Amino acid sequence: MFSLTYSAAINGIDADIVEVETYISNGMPGFFIVGLPDTAVKESRDRVAAALKNSGFDFPPKKITVNLAPADTKKEGGIFDLPIALGILSASGIIKKDSLLGFCIAGELALDGKIRKVKGILPIALSLSKTKIKKIIVPFANRQEAAASRSVSAFSFKTLDEVVKFINGTTQCEPYIYNDDENTATVSNSYDFADIKGQKNAKRAVEISAAGGHNILMSGPPGSGKTMIAKRMPSILPPMTFEESVETTKIWSSAGHNFSGGLIKQRPFRSPHHTISAIALAGGGAYPKPGEVSLSHNGILFLDELPEFRRDALEILRQPLEDKKIMVSRTKNTFVFPASFMLVTAMNPCPCGNLGHREKQCICTPYQIQKYRGKISGPLMDRIDIYIEVPALKFLELTEIKDVGEHSQEIKQRVTLAREIQNKRFKGTGIYVNAQMRSKEIKKHCILDDKSYAFLKNTVEKLNFSARSYDKILKVARTIADLENESSIKVNHISQAVQYRFLDRQMGN
Ligand SMILES: Nc1ncnc2c1ncn2[C@@H]1O[C@H](COP(=O)(O)OP(=O)(O)OP(=O)(O)O)[C@@H](O)[C@H]1O
Ligand SMILES: [Mg+2]
Repeated sequence: MFSLTYSAAINGIDADIVEVETYISNGMPGFFIVGLPDTAVKESRDRVAAALKNSGFDFPPKKITVNLAPADTKKEGGIFDLPIALGILSASGIIKKDSLLGFCIAGELALDGKIRKVKGILPIALSLSKTKIKKIIVPFANRQEAAASRSVSAFSFKTLDEVVKFINGTTQCEPYIYNDDENTATVSNSYDFADIKGQKNAKRAVEISAAGGHNILMSGPPGSGKTMIAKRMPSILPPMTFEESVETTKIWSSAGHNFSGGLIKQRPFRSPHHTISAIALAGGGAYPKPGEVSLSHNGILFLDELPEFRRDALEILRQPLEDKKIMVSRTKNTFVFPASFMLVTAMNPCPCGNLGHREKQCICTPYQIQKYRGKISGPLMDRIDIYIEVPALKFLELTEIKDVGEHSQEIKQRVTLAREIQNKRFKGTGIYVNAQMRSKEIKKHCILDDKSYAFLKNTVEKLNFSARSYDKILKVARTIADLENESSIKVNHISQAVQYRFLDRQMGN
């Protein structure tokens, strides 16, 4: 009266195999689950009992003990309902002995025996590649994720009864093969750049930033369209590769955010409110979950009203901006979550917002302005390549500009071509975009002819730019040249790149 099945527990963004042992003995009828289960797992008892009865199976009136091993792995959620129910059926002889052993099983049960989708199926399926288990049974709604792992055969079902028939061989079932056309998951928006009137400079800067993966800061008075521009940035980023989709979906799935259960195909755009805590940004909690920096992996992290963010939250960004990952330490364990994102930020030039406005008067004192700007630390500013001013449009400009600007699709094509050039350039180096170049790569790939060098030297000296600014000008100039499919950096590329440093000087850097 004993059975063994396999399931898995989410651990950060990975999964650990869990053995589900079921023992049915004569004794006072009861149902016990042991092995560090959380409340949702304990409630599994009621769901499993009801689902079994409502699917037409007997719930044995005996003492049932379920042990989830290893005992020191934390188990959460309803994921164990299905393996527990099948374990009971196996221990009571309804499912053939040992027929569950080749499978990893995950799924939450509804009281009527239907199988509900669960979080973390992609990490679970991926983790099986390191084990001998090569088949997985998942809820129907999670079939895309399970199959996308490409390392296991994925069988998906809608009800408990269907699973039992499949395991007992009464019905046949083919593993689900990943199908991109059926994949419906999206995370982003359908905003278009053609909606933005005027603002040519800002649009151009945003295109450069998307093309070279440069972090960007937009400064401008209220209502000038900063948020509007940022929200349209995902629409011009190059399409995700399959590997990128899998990486991002794995994070979203383990955090329980992948609601449609398919692969995420659009680059994420995360825009947390400025009251966000450092932990919510970095990731953490009793069962550590990825935070906003990781949910933006392979996409954009947009921080609107940058100076309003808490200082400790902004400081968290340093590590992911540098290492493209974040470490979250807990007493027992340290988790490393991927966090490779483009940082897009927006702010007003001063507390009242009207500094530099063409028509309105700024009412802030120099001290207030300095204090406001000082909220953004030097190290963070250091990691921003492009600064632009977004001026407010006049009423007439807003109402009378009739010509529709370029659609996102057209800009995206140029960005994608520029990214392809960069992919070739950095192949095998672990660098993907110009923004990630270190001094070694800058030396190699940003060679200037005499004329451009003289121009840059003259500009840097005249305008008193720092050495750091010098590197950034080169990186951005490289991207501008890539957008024009030019192999060498010319004077006009540099002169454009220099424009994106002026605000940096104003900010006190
Ligand atoms: N260039 C523009 N083209 C079309 N509409 C615009 C433009 N600029 C602003 N708007 C309109 O103004 C609204 C406010 O813009 P948005 O929220 O982007 O401003 P903001 O710069 O983020 O302001 P704040 O500093 O207050 O956050 C937009 O929803 C849009 O309707
Ligand atoms: Mg805004």
